[in-house]
Amino acid sequence: MIVGILGIATVPVVFAEVPDQPTFTKDVLPILQENCQECHRLKPIKVSGMVAPFALMEYKEVRPWAKAIAKEVTERYMPPWFAAEEFHGVFRNERSLSQDDIDTIVRWVDQGAKRGNPADAPEPATFSNKEWWLGKPDLVVELPEKVWVSDEVEDWQPMINVTLTPDLLPEDRWIKTIEAQGDATSVHHIVVYSENPHQEMRQEAAGALGYGNIGGLAPGAEPSLLQDGYGILLKKGSTLRISMHYHKEPGEGTGEWDQSRLGFYFYDKDEDVTPINIEPIGRMDFEIPAFKKDHVVSMQHTFDKPFEVLNFLPHMHLRGSAAKYTATLPNGDKEVLLDVPRYDYAWQLYYEYPEPRQFPAGTKIQVDMTFDNSDENPNNPDPSKNIRFGPSTTDEMALGWMYYSWTETTGTD
Ligand code: HEC
Repeated sequence: MIVGILGIATVPVVFAEVPDQPTFTKDVLPILQENCQECHRLKPIKVSGMVAPFALMEYKEVRPWAKAIAKEVTERYMPPWFAAEEFHGVFRNERSLSQDDIDTIVRWVDQGAKRGNPADAPEPATFSNKEWWLGKPDLVVELPEKVWVSDEVEDWQPMINVTLTPDLLPEDRWIKTIEAQGDATSVHHIVVYSENPHQEMRQEAAGALGYGNIGGLAPGAEPSLLQDGYGILLKKGSTLRISMHYHKEPGEGTGEWDQSRLGFYFYDKDEDVTPINIEPIGRMDFEIPAFKKDHVVSMQHTFDKPFEVLNFLPHMHLRGSAAKYTATLPNGDKEVLLDVPRYDYAWQLYYEYPEPRQFPAGTKIQVDMTFDNSDENPNNPDPSKNIRFGPSTTDEMALGWMYYSWTETTGTD
């Protein structure tokens, strides 16, 4: 170990903190509390796909998974976060383990995953099991009727419309966020679309969807508030389109009822809110050849006014393997804004800036999406098919969703 220079430490030096003989109680449990238990607990909240298949609260629960845990953290598959390493620190909702944490877990597993002294354990983490993750909503919209997800269902994606009658929504309100709660265990995702009166970027793909995606529940995304002061206008009398996706093993006795619900959180009526656009840079006119490994679909949009970006949500289906957003500024400078080298359909993650990031008029954003239609892709249901745009998970999509706003300009331009 190097200890400063001649003992005169002018700069604080941080040494790697990987214990020689890590134990569960002293070294591993604190890492799990901090990074895993929000999802891996017995009664996980039923929001946003944060329903992990097993708990990692106590030694007896963790021990049988020790090898799998070492593998998942080494491959950086858990905790789920797929931006490339150079984006460490860029997005506010990042989940990642430090290399020291990973090394601690791996060393602990290599040495036999010992419990250690129970007295070393930190206080057990507590999680509120409150009904709504974000607190009581201003408006709750349930599916109008219970939906029967029958025994035969493996994947089913009904679209359910709900009109915002005066009873539900007497006046227009600005949405801060939506918390979607799956009711049946087979709820895989919920996406809510509404007419967004501020939608201005008319992309072919957005036009085809007709509506803006205004939020919902998708695997791995915590319900989070939009950046302060930014919102989506919900119009009284408008119709929400709720896209449900149920997914389970089919079989006798697996049918279940569902009445999922949405909690809306609004800004106060007198608050000044900047409208956001939620639109993809996307295209529908692609075809991915059978057996092709790295097929790239690229699309771009040049913004004619100054704008600011709140977040990105790359969306592909089972063959999606990588996504990249690149900005070209009017002076020709290029910058990769987000690189997801290992895209995984199971995790529909948002990448959120802490504060909206501003770009000048004339900025071009290009989205490159890579698809693996080869038989090396374990998620590929059928490599022998040419694949086009379509709604089913076995079709494809190439949508580089973005939440953005037009920048408020003051004074003279
Ligand atoms: C956002 C929620 C979430 C967080 C945070 C999370 N997990 Fe998971 N984990 C899941 C879900 C959901 C699954 C099952 C789906 C899957 O395997 O992709 C899973 C699966 C796993 C598996 C099983 C993989 C297999 O072999 O099937 C392991 C092991 C695991 N997680 C460990 C961890 C560890 C260790 C952490 C923290 C360092 C962690 N997870 C953090 C949600 C989470």
